[in-house]
Amino acid sequence: MAILNQQVKDKVQKSNLPTQKPGPVLGKVTPQAVSFHHPDASEGAGMWELVKETGVLDLNSAYLYLMMGRYYGQTCLVAKQNGKVRGFAMGFIPPGRDDTYFLWQVGVSTAARGQGLATRMIQHLLKQPACKNVRYLETTITPSNEASRKLFKGLARRWDAELKIQTGFDASLFPGHAAHESEDLFYIGPFDLHAEKGVKA
Ligand SMILES: CC(C)(COP(=O)(O)OP(=O)(O)OC[C@H]1O[C@@H](n2cnc3c(N)ncnc32)[C@H](O)[C@@H]1OP(=O)(O)O)[C@@H](O)C(=O)NCCC(=O)NCCS
Repeated sequence: MAILNQQVKDKVQKSNLPTQKPGPVLGKVTPQAVSFHHPDASEGAGMWELVKETGVLDLNSAYLYLMMGRYYGQTCLVAKQNGKVRGFAMGFIPPGRDDTYFLWQVGVSTAARGQGLATRMIQHLLKQPACKNVRYLETTITPSNEASRKLFKGLARRWDAELKIQTGFDASLFPGHAAHESEDLFYIGPFDLHAEKGVKA
């Protein structure tokens, strides 16, 4: 769940990629206004565009988003409104660890934030058949990403589950001097979203 530090953000700005500009006004992202579905390769470009729009997430190659849609679509989710991707959550179940979901990136378009969309997407995704054995969620978050930290603390609270924060990927592991903040590992669980017990909407 990489987000860029200031030095990298400066480079992004120099390369004229958009940063935190508001998206087009599409109205409130109420549960009625937005549809959720698993992506396929055809949604890869939309997810890539949204990552570019956030200006803070690591923008990986377009190929990576196409590949995730094609091969990991069942453990990813897109939220669409009027044909436009307003949000996505992307991750996978690590081989041999059926009870764990690793969430790699989650993004919500600028104009749609603060309306509970990320919370709803992750809850919806983890209730799908591909995640039926999932009892733990892992993700990594940089210390400066307050919105994301709040999102996962809020999920742990809703699920009445323990949250442990440990070292994820230390800054020294990334290439280039101080090119990337350290990533803290957020480990939430156990929880049981399929039983619905104790899950607050
Ligand atoms: C992080 C992000 C996905 C949150 O999406 P969202 O739809 O606005 O999140 P929600 O509305 O579901 O809010 C979840 C919680 O975070 C809090 N929150 C959301 N944005 C916040 C912000 N900017 N500052 C502080 N808290 C914030 C909400 O109040 C809510 O808290 P609660 O559960 O205690 O009520 C969104 O801000 C985003 O796309 N950021 C850019 C990409 C990014 O950093 N992704 C995460 C790393 S991969």
